[in-house]
Amino acid sequence: MTDAIRLDGRVAIVTGGAGGIGGATARLMTLRGARVAVADIALERAEALAGELDGAIAVRLDLGDERSTEAMVATAVQHFRRLDILHNNAALLGPEIAEADGDVENMDTALWDRTFAVNVRGTMVACRAALPHLRESRGNIVNTVSNLALQGHLIQAAYSSSKAALIQLTRAIAASHGKAGIRCNAVAPGMTVTPALLEAFPPPVREAVEDETLRDRLGVAEDIAEAVAFLASDAARNITGEVLVCDGGCSAHVPGIARFRSFFGDNA
Ligand SMILES: NC(=O)c1ccc[n+]([C@@H]2O[C@H](COP(=O)([O-])OP(=O)(O)OC[C@H]3O[C@@H](n4cnc5c(N)ncnc54)[C@H](O)[C@@H]3O)[C@@H](O)[C@H]2O)c1
Repeated sequence: MTDAIRLDGRVAIVTGGAGGIGGATARLMTLRGARVAVADIALERAEALAGELDGAIAVRLDLGDERSTEAMVATAVQHFRRLDILHNNAALLGPEIAEADGDVENMDTALWDRTFAVNVRGTMVACRAALPHLRESRGNIVNTVSNLALQGHLIQAAYSSSKAALIQLTRAIAASHGKAGIRCNAVAPGMTVTPALLEAFPPPVREAVEDETLRDRLGVAEDIAEAVAFLASDAARNITGEVLVCDGGCSAHVPGIARFRSFFGDNA
């Protein structure tokens, strides 16, 4: 039996590859044998990471810009002469965005449009540009969504709606291109400790989520990277159109579990 989670000979694009989850995924994919295009709007950070990874290149990407997104795919394919995996992981994030993105009654339409332009339109453009190459390699796409795409919350109405749209994009691509040998899946992280998260959410908010987690800690970027590498590998060869929730069980339990612990204890 072979180690099906190996990615030897594969070429992957990781968008947002200079960030927390994207960086961990680019590292893990390289360890598993892939060559990676680290694509990010923060080119210096992408170059620094690519410099550490065997065979990797850095590519500047502005996911909000159609031409830049198409050029990212073209540059990677020109360099590596093939494309097997597109990991759409970049998103519009940051403390000001998280602060401004609240409930619908107070929604700024410019923020809504920007969120959808980057997260949804940009990801669709990346998929559109990659699909002809993935058809040749019988490759696959993994989109990073969020467990907030599956549950209502008091905050981030634009972000969570955009991630829900990406789940449907995932299924649409899986349906249209499955017979051509292309798979498309999504990974849905819960709150995951990355520099972006630490900036955006203060300790009390993180502790509230940790209380809802069924494990003994919040997730870390490497947890998500493992899920992405699995979905991108031959081990997941019969999985397509799926959402793999990777949130430590946060969205898997009855409402109010944090309060129920005081009645029944953790092991009741
Ligand atoms: N960290 C969490 O708690 C969490 C939870 C659920 C989902 N996610 C998702 O995981 C993904 C990665 O998040 P992260 O926590 O690693 O954040 P991060 O900020 O560490 O990484 C995001 C990267 O995307 C890049 N980026 C931002 N805008 C871009 C653009 N227009 N074009 C190209 N690159 C751009 C940033 O420069 C950054 O390197 C995102 O899709 C996010 O929505 C994160």
